[in-house]
Amino acid sequence: MGGSFLQFLLTFILLLLCMKPTTHLGCKEHERQALLKIKQDLIDDYGLLSSWSSNQDCCKWSGVNCSNQTGHVIMLNLNGSTSFLSRHLQGKLNPSLTELKYLTHLDVSYNDFNQTQIPEFIGSLSNLIFLDLSQANFGRNIPYQLGNLSSLQYLYLWGNPINNPKNLDWLSQLSSLTFLDMDINLSKVNNWLQIVNKLPYLTSLYLISCNLPNIFSIPLVNSSTSFDVLCLSDNDLTSSSSVLEWLFSSNTSVVELDLSRNQFRGLIPDAFSRINSLAHLYLDSVKFEGEIPKAFGGMCNLKTLSLSKNCLNGQLTDFIHNLTGCANHSIEALFLDRNQITGSLPDLTTFPSLRELRLDQNRLNGTIPESLGKQSNLEILHLGSNSLEGVISEVHFSKLSNLKNLDLSNTSLVFNFSFDWVPQFQLDVIHFQSCQLGPRFPKWLQAQKSCYWIDISNSGISDNLSNLHWVFSSQIQFMNLSHNKITGQIPDLSLEFNLPPMIDMRSNNLEGDIPSFLFKASYLDLSYNMFSESVLSLCAINNEDLGFLDLSNNRLSGELPDCWMHLKGLGILNLANNHFQGKIPNSLGSLLGIETLDLSNNNFSGELTSSLNNCVELKFINLRDNNLSGEIPMWLGSSLPNLVVIILRSNHLHGSLPLHLCHLAHLQVLDFALNQISGSIPKCFNNLTALTQKVRANATISHIYDQYFGSFYMTRTYDDHVLLMWKGREYDYKHILGLLKIIDLSSNKLTGAIPEEITELTGLISLNLSRNLLSGQIISNIGELQSLDFLDLSKNQLSGRIPSSLSHIDRLSVLDLSNNNLSGKIPTSPQLDTFNASSYEGNPNLCGAPLLEKCPGEEIAQNPAMNGSREHAGMQDEKEGFISIGFYVSVALGFIAGFWGVVGTLVLNMSLRVAFFRFLNDFKDRLYVAISVNLARVQRQLQN
Ligand SMILES: *[C@@H]1O[C@H](CO)[C@@H](O)[C@H](O)[C@H]1NC(C)=O
Ligand SMILES: *[C@@H]1O[C@H](CO)[C@@H](O)[C@H](O)[C@H]1NC(C)=O
Ligand SMILES: *[C@@H]1O[C@H](CO)[C@@H](O)[C@H](O)[C@H]1NC(C)=O
Ligand SMILES: *[C@@H]1O[C@H](CO)[C@@H](O)[C@H](O)[C@H]1NC(C)=O
Ligand SMILES: *[C@@H]1O[C@H](CO)[C@@H](O)[C@H](O)[C@H]1NC(C)=O
Repeated sequence: MGGSFLQFLLTFILLLLCMKPTTHLGCKEHERQALLKIKQDLIDDYGLLSSWSSNQDCCKWSGVNCSNQTGHVIMLNLNGSTSFLSRHLQGKLNPSLTELKYLTHLDVSYNDFNQTQIPEFIGSLSNLIFLDLSQANFGRNIPYQLGNLSSLQYLYLWGNPINNPKNLDWLSQLSSLTFLDMDINLSKVNNWLQIVNKLPYLTSLYLISCNLPNIFSIPLVNSSTSFDVLCLSDNDLTSSSSVLEWLFSSNTSVVELDLSRNQFRGLIPDAFSRINSLAHLYLDSVKFEGEIPKAFGGMCNLKTLSLSKNCLNGQLTDFIHNLTGCANHSIEALFLDRNQITGSLPDLTTFPSLRELRLDQNRLNGTIPESLGKQSNLEILHLGSNSLEGVISEVHFSKLSNLKNLDLSNTSLVFNFSFDWVPQFQLDVIHFQSCQLGPRFPKWLQAQKSCYWIDISNSGISDNLSNLHWVFSSQIQFMNLSHNKITGQIPDLSLEFNLPPMIDMRSNNLEGDIPSFLFKASYLDLSYNMFSESVLSLCAINNEDLGFLDLSNNRLSGELPDCWMHLKGLGILNLANNHFQGKIPNSLGSLLGIETLDLSNNNFSGELTSSLNNCVELKFINLRDNNLSGEIPMWLGSSLPNLVVIILRSNHLHGSLPLHLCHLAHLQVLDFALNQISGSIPKCFNNLTALTQKVRANATISHIYDQYFGSFYMTRTYDDHVLLMWKGREYDYKHILGLLKIIDLSSNKLTGAIPEEITELTGLISLNLSRNLLSGQIISNIGELQSLDFLDLSKNQLSGRIPSSLSHIDRLSVLDLSNNNLSGKIPTSPQLDTFNASSYEGNPNLCGAPLLEKCPGEEIAQNPAMNGSREHAGMQDEKEGFISIGFYVSVALGFIAGFWGVVGTLVLNMSLRVAFFRFLNDFKDRLYVAISVNLARVQRQLQN
C-alpha cells in the first residue's frame, strides 16, 4: 500500500517537472504586467479585453500573439470593429506599451482616443512592421518620432481628425514603407510628391481626400517608381497638376490607378495609355467629356476601365470601337454608367472576358442584341435608366450562367419569357424597378433563391403575395416591392435575418396582420395598404436597428402596445391615418433618438404622455385629428428644443398657451387650431426665432441617416410631410414644408388683445387667429409682417380702425377681417383693392370700397379717383409692371410644390412664363421668401 503511494507521488513529481518548462514558454511576466497597465487605461464598454485577466497566460488573451520561438508578444490587435457596429475602446494608450519591445504588429484602429495626439512613444517600437491607427479618433499633430520606425512597412492613418501638417518630414524617414493609407489634409505640403517618390519600397499609396495641392512643374528625381496601387481620389486635382506629368513620365509604372473624384475636365488624355503596366484604371467623377481615346485600345493589360459619372457624350459604338485592338481581349470590367452616351447597345462578343458591364443612366436607345446572351463570363449587367426598348427574352440570357447582378430598371423593355423558362443563373441583385414585369410575377424570378437585393417597385405587378414568399429569406438586405398592386397576406414566418434589412412594401393591397418578424428590419414601410391588425406584435421582438417605421394609411386599430422600449433605435415613426385608439403609450418615451412622430388622424385619447419629454431629438410632432384632452404640456417647450413642426389641431385640449412654447427657437409651424384653448396669446412669441427670420436654407425638413447594407452604407433621407389647409384646400406639404412659417390658433377660446410683439415675426407667411374671442385693436404696425401671405382675423371681437400699414404687405393674397367690430374707412392701396367685400363684411361700422357703405363725407366725387386708380392698376397689369417679386416667388414655389393649376396658366401665357424663368435665373437666392399661390391674381390678370 505505502509503496504504491510512493510510486504514485514520484510519477506525479516527475510529471510536474516535465510539464513545467512548456507551461512557462507562453507569457513573459513583465509583458503581462505591461498589458495589464494598458488595459487599466482603456475604457472597455464592450468587453473586448474581457479575457485579459491577471491569472492567465497572456499569449492566450484575445488580440495578443506571442512568438512561438521566443515567447515574446509580437502582435497586439486592439481593433475595435468586431462587426459593422463599431464596438470601440476609449481612453488612452499607456506608455508601458514600449515594454513590448518585440512588437512587430500593432492595430488600435476603430477606437476612440478622444482626439488626443498619437503617442510619441510609439516611435520607440523599433521592430514595428505593421501599424494601424485608422479610425481611432486621434487628433492634433503627427509626432515626428513616428519617423523613427525604420522597419515599418505598413502604415494606416486614415479616418483621424489630424491637423493639417506643414511638412511630412517624418514620412520621408520611413525608408522601409511599402504601404501607406492616410487622408490627412496635405494642402500645405507642396513637396508631398517628391517625398513619396523617394520612398524606395513604396508600392501601395492611398491618399484619398487629402486636399492634395495642385502643384505645377516640380523637379522630380529621375528614380523610377513602381506602384501596385496608387489611389489619389477625391482631391480636386486638375489636369495641369504635376501628378499627371509625373504619371505620364516614362519612369512611373502603376498597376491600379484611381484618380476618381478630381476635377480634370476636358478630354481624356491619350497619355494614360502610355502607362503600360495599367490593369485597373478608375477615372470616375472627374468631369471628362467626349470619347475614350483610340490609344486606349492598345492597352493590352487593361482589365478594369471605369469612367462612371462623367460627361462622356459620344456614341456607344464609337467607344466600343475605340477600345478594340488589344484592350478588348483583356477588359473584364467596363463602367460607363452615369454619362450621356447615346446610340444602341452593340455586339460585345469582341470582349470575351467581360465580367462586369455598367451602362446604366445614359441615353442609350434601341433594342438589346441577342448576342448579349453569348457573354458567358458576365456577372454584373447594368443597363437601367436608358431608353432601351423592344422585347427581352431568354435568348438574351442563353449562356449567361454566371450572371449575379442584373439592372434593367427604368427602361421600356418588354419582358417576354416563356412560362417554364428555368434560367441557368442565380441572381443576388435584381433591379427591375419601373419595368413592365407584371401583371403576374414571373416564374423564373421565383427561382432566384439567393437574392439579397431586390427592387421591383412600380413594375405593374398585381399578383398575390404567395408567389413572392421567396423574397422573405434570411439573406435579404433590401426589398422594395412598393407601388404595385400586390394582394394577400404576409405569412407569419419566424424568420431570422442575417442583417436587419430594408423592407419597403408601400402602396400595395396587402391585408391581414403584420407578422412580428418584419419588425426585425432596419427600415419598414408598409404604408398605404390595407393591414387591419388590432394588436401590433411588437412585444415579442427586440430590435435596436429599426430606425424607420411607417405604418400610416392602413386600417390598423386597437391600442398601441406599451413595448416601444424594444425599438429603441427608432428615428421616424409614422402611424397616421389608422384607427388606433386608447392612450399614447408611456414607452414611446424610451425612443430617445426619435425625430419624427406622426400619430395624426387616429382616435388616441387621454393626455399627452409626459414621458415624451425624454425625446429631446424630436423635430416634428403631428397629433392632429385625435381625441386628446388635458392641457398643452409645458414640457413641449421646455424639453424639446429642436421642434420645428408641432401640430395638435383638432383635439380637445384646453387651458392656456404655456409660456414655455417661446423657448422653441426652431419652431416654424405651430398649429393648435380647433381645440378649447383659452387665455391670451403670449407676448413672448417674439422669442420664436425661426419665425422672426425670413431666411431658411432648406425647402424640406429632412432627416438624413446612414443605413448599413452588409458591405456598405447608404445615405438615405426622409422628408417630413404634413397635410395643411391652404386657402380652403388641404395640401400634402413635403417638398416645401421647410419654407412654411405658420401660426394657426383658429377656433379656440383665446381672449385679450393680439400682442404687439407678434409684429416681430417677420418670417411668418400665414397667421390665422380667426374664430376666437380676441378683442382690442388690430396692431397698428401689422404691416411689418412683410412675408405674410395669409391673414385671417375673422370672427373675433376686434374693434377700432383697420391699420393703414396693412397696405404695405405686398404679398398678402388672402385677407379676412370679417365679423368683428371694426370701424372707419377701409384703407386703399393697389394691393388691398384686390380683396372683395367678403374680406370685410360683418363689421357694422366699416365703410368704403369694396363695401357698399359710403363713409361720411365721401361722395360721388371720390368715385372717379377710385376708378382712375383701378384703371391705372389694370394698365400696369398688362405690362407686368404690377407683378411683385412676391408673385414670382409664389409662382416658383407653386411650381415646386406641384400646383399644376398655376403651371397650367403659365403655359398658356408666354410673356408671364418668360418673366417667370427670368425671375428664376435672377433671383434664385431669394426663393426662400415663401409659399403662396396667387392663383386668383394670375387668373384676374389673364382675364384683363
Ligand atoms: C511558428 O509560427 C510561424 C508563423 O507564425 C509558423 O510558420 C511556424 O511553423 C511556427 N513554428 C512552430 C515551431 O510552431
Ligand atoms: C475627451 O476630451 C475632452 C476635452 O478634451 C474631455 O472634456 C472629455 O472628458 C474627454 N472624454 C473622455 C471620455 O475622456
Ligand atoms: C473613336 O472612334 C470613332 C469612330 O471610329 C472616331 O471617329 C473617333 O475619332 C475616335 N475617338 C478618339 C478620341 O480617338
Ligand atoms: C435613337 O435616338 C436617336 C437620336 O435621338 C435617333 O436618331 C435614333 O433613330 C434612335 N434609334 C432608335 C433605334 O430608336
Ligand atoms: C426669451 O428669450 C430670452 C433670450 O433668449 C430669454 O432670456 C427669455 O427667458 C425668453 N423668454 C421666454 C418667455 O421664453
